[in-house]
Amino acid sequence: MSILSVKDLTYVYSQGTPFEHTAVDKLSFEIERGDFIGIIGHTGSGKSTLVQMLNGLIKPTSGAVYLDNINIWDKPKEIRKIRFKVGLVFQYPEYQLFEETVEKDIAFGPTNIGLNEKEIKERVLQAAKFVDLNPELLVKSPFDLSGGEKRRAAIAGVIAMDPDILILDEPCAGLDPLGRDILLSQIYSYHKERGNTVLLVSHSMEDVGTVCDKVMVMNRSRLEMFDTAQRVFSQGERLQKLGLRIPQITSVIDELIDAGFPLKRGTLTVEQAVEDITEYLKREGRL
Ligand SMILES: Nc1ncnc2c1ncn2[C@@H]1O[C@H](COP(=O)(O)OP(=O)(O)OP(=O)(O)O)[C@@H](O)[C@H]1O
Ligand SMILES: [Mg+2]
Repeated sequence: MSILSVKDLTYVYSQGTPFEHTAVDKLSFEIERGDFIGIIGHTGSGKSTLVQMLNGLIKPTSGAVYLDNINIWDKPKEIRKIRFKVGLVFQYPEYQLFEETVEKDIAFGPTNIGLNEKEIKERVLQAAKFVDLNPELLVKSPFDLSGGEKRRAAIAGVIAMDPDILILDEPCAGLDPLGRDILLSQIYSYHKERGNTVLLVSHSMEDVGTVCDKVMVMNRSRLEMFDTAQRVFSQGERLQKLGLRIPQITSVIDELIDAGFPLKRGTLTVEQAVEDITEYLKREGRL
């Protein structure tokens, strides 16, 4: 059964003015519980607008979002509850930090769900651990943290609500390469350990290819493709026409296939590539 689905979902900015712009145009799809989905698409294709509708932050112009088969706008007064079930980490979430201390910031969500003090404390510590935030930083002002630490504090604040669905909009943008790798592997472990549904918006094909099972491709406000990562990244030419590329390892393997080597299109990780090439060389008696 799908945990989240959308039907004819549409969002128009500045409707009825000369600046009218349809940012999301009649999207329909279903997401299964436990899926780890990557959302890719060129800049301005509608990714952030889409995810903000999925957690009820903005209301669709038309169409609907269903969480466990219930239209999230059926009871507009209860829309806040949806935001605790579908946790959204914004693009540049450091701007979401506003409390006196990091601890209070991470505790904001759990406090609003109505948990008691002990439970809140536990949630905060657990979430900080999940994102590898040094507990000594909890008493500091969020403004005294480094960029990467702020990012992790903001993510911890959403994880602390224990949402059924976690959506991250470009969580690694602006971090250095090591910071990106660490954060990505933390998100990966979070999904593995909790089995939650995770949606990751990213411009990095490498990141999406490494951690996501399925991929949505947005193009000019429409959903162009939605399939397994392997099948999406097997279509390099189609993606190129949309201004996107495939992970580097996938294109290296594609070139080897074109040169006659019997490997698999849509190979997503270096580990998989090494395994397949080793197996091939053994079969050929060359290893
Ligand atoms: N508040 C707004 N008012 C008017 N237009 C907007 C607003 N926010 C976004 N848009 C427009 O809607 C379209 C989709 O924007 P959106 O931010 O959803 O794209 P995106 O895919 O997340 O892009 P990026 O990869 O750059 O983050 C863009 O053309 C953008 O200019
Ligand atoms: Mg965006």
